[in-house]
Amino acid sequence: QELKLSLEQIEKGGYEHFMLKEIFEQPKSVHDTMRGRLIVDEGVIKMAGIWDHIEKFKNANRIIIIACGTSWHAGLIGEYLIEEYARIPVEVEYASEFRYRNPIITDKDVVIAISQSGETADTMAALKLAKERGAFIYGICNVVDSSIARITDAGSYTHAGPEIGVASTKAFTAQLTILSLIALKLGKHNGNLGNAEFMSLIAELDAIPRKIEDVLGTTHELVQNIAKDFVSATNFLYLGRGYNYPAALEGALKLKEISYIHAEGYPAAEMKHGPIALIDENMPIVIIAPKKGHYDKIVSNVQEIKARKGKIIAVVNKGDTQVSAMADYVIEIPETSECFSPIVASVPLQLLAYYIAVYRGANVDQPRNLAKSVTVE
Ligand code: G6P
Repeated sequence: QELKLSLEQIEKGGYEHFMLKEIFEQPKSVHDTMRGRLIVDEGVIKMAGIWDHIEKFKNANRIIIIACGTSWHAGLIGEYLIEEYARIPVEVEYASEFRYRNPIITDKDVVIAISQSGETADTMAALKLAKERGAFIYGICNVVDSSIARITDAGSYTHAGPEIGVASTKAFTAQLTILSLIALKLGKHNGNLGNAEFMSLIAELDAIPRKIEDVLGTTHELVQNIAKDFVSATNFLYLGRGYNYPAALEGALKLKEISYIHAEGYPAAEMKHGPIALIDENMPIVIIAPKKGHYDKIVSNVQEIKARKGKIIAVVNKGDTQVSAMADYVIEIPETSECFSPIVASVPLQLLAYYIAVYRGANVDQPRNLAKSVTVE
């Protein structure tokens, strides 16, 4: 029997789509992003880009994070991380809005651009503007030597490897990894993060690749089965609080991008200001509810959904009882620090979007109307 493999099949490494391959690469891509930077035994985070310009960060009035799409969601989580641990005020902006609104920027601002491709036109233009106005600009890019990487004053690459699927997966978790490293490094340096807490956080971060591995192993089949029940859904809500609010936005974006099902992400507490009106027995609601992070509040949100007969898919920690008892579908993930939980919680949401799209017969790797990098306005 003749064995014919196309180059593309070889590149997909036995997976049906690049997206699935990239989802499964995350234990490695997150690990690669930390390699040489997070030295747990020595209790240090080495990042030359930060260290060489530490005064800029130390004296910054604020940090402005600029990005588009999934990278913007990573930026939102970056805001929580940097404000919590480094206590530096952070603003997160869509590059396309920032560039056209005559923003106030001074030489006391540090601008961080997040971009997988490093070629996004709006992000590039926003950076040029910030640079003209004297800000120090830092890049978090995946593609080495990309346009954004070249115009920034300094930066840290996410070493996620090439991402082919249009819907970003491993680049997102790598961006969260870099932002975690930056927040912890700055917090340690400026004294806002005590040594004991720093040590416990870096040990936790170091364990993330293993936890992602665990999630992939234990939830893959389960999520595949859950997806079958939602092939004909026309709407989805994704809810989370705190660090997992942006994770909810990202979960919804994944579903929209590849399955063409309308999905909205919301901070769980905002539900009562609108989305709750949409909830009935036909509304699937993905709720991210790890033990650490406003759990009791989430429990009451889940009760409100249940009372309106919404179909709940809950992402909870192993051994969870309260939310699990009310949910129609339960996806268990290992516990971690609240600030790293979006990295772990995002993985089953990527799988859910992936399988729903596959069962709908959609072109997962190249969704209609979308481009991997948007180099025009
Ligand atoms: C496009 C891609 C998204 C990506 C966004 C920003 O819309 O389809 O996956 O998140 O651009 O891209 P960047 O390369 O700047 O991260």
